[in-house]
Amino acid sequence: MKKKKIVFSAIQPTGLPTIGNYIGALSQWKKLQKKYFCIYCIADLHALTIYQKKYILNKNILDTLSICLACGINPKKNIIFIQSHVPQHSQLNWILNCFTNFGKLNRMNQFKEKKNLNQNINVGLFNYPVLMAADILLYKTNKVPIGRDQIQHIELVRNIAHKFNNIYGDIFNIPEKKLNNYGSCITSLLNPVKKMSKSDPNKNNIISLFDNDIIIRKKISNAITDSDFPPNIQYNLYKKPGISNLISILSNITGDSIKQVELNFINKNYNNLKESVIYNLCIFLKNLRKRYDFYRRDEVYLKNIMINGAKKAKKNAKITLKSVYDVLGLNF
Ligand code: TRP
Repeated sequence: MKKKKIVFSAIQPTGLPTIGNYIGALSQWKKLQKKYFCIYCIADLHALTIYQKKYILNKNILDTLSICLACGINPKKNIIFIQSHVPQHSQLNWILNCFTNFGKLNRMNQFKEKKNLNQNINVGLFNYPVLMAADILLYKTNKVPIGRDQIQHIELVRNIAHKFNNIYGDIFNIPEKKLNNYGSCITSLLNPVKKMSKSDPNKNNIISLFDNDIIIRKKISNAITDSDFPPNIQYNLYKKPGISNLISILSNITGDSIKQVELNFINKNYNNLKESVIYNLCIFLKNLRKRYDFYRRDEVYLKNIMINGAKKAKKNAKITLKSVYDVLGLNF
């Protein structure tokens, strides 16, 4: 039997995921399990780049793990683990720092944005993509599913791996990014040209996986559409970003194609579309929350998942780290 290719991805345990995180990442993570051996990581070390209160971080890690399970990540067939439980991530991170070009790291857009917003930032934010490189390279990853905002980081990871391999031979696999199609990028409800982000201070822009029916109704009713007359329910990201976003949400949670949604709404108005989004979102999120509660209640079970996940991840990570130590002359 051919060995399955390896997928690696990670999510930060900060705050409540949105329907955008679900559609853009978690639902894809679930699907990838069919074809790949998947390693999914809860990136708690990355979360430390902004100050986290102890109890909140601790709770967020368990919340995020429960959400991953509720979204269909299968810890028996694949690996789900907490980044800080596998010390090889930090160990490889240091080594990779020494193979990362300062100028390149300094040109990362995400870092530049954060630096511009706040002068008083820490080195962790600067180093962030190198820790991502350690995450990915430890597991001989073939594909990394990511959002468009992470493309530059993956290019850097490939660059670091190439640089190391050029000196020491084929130690690292060169990973490839795996982007979703455009229909999977959910945008902000009031500003539909911007990605929906769980850290958005205006909560009317986002649907959290924990919004109740009343809040969902309010937020979707207020979502920006357009003033085309007659109303026209067609997917066109550039001319009709608001309507396209609602179509994407509906298509992703019902499983209907974008085309099918368009067909269902010929000669209908925007209110009809919104009502359908509200109806389907409420049912979908109610079921998701039921599954979430089932896992979240059982902390003993969650701890077991974490222990087993770390054990399996470590087994793989140790092999890569050992080969790195070997070629560097650090093993005796
Ligand atoms: N930086 C990613 C994000 O915020 C999370 C992440 C950390 C990640 N390590 C990774 C994603 C490795 C892919 C691979 O979305």
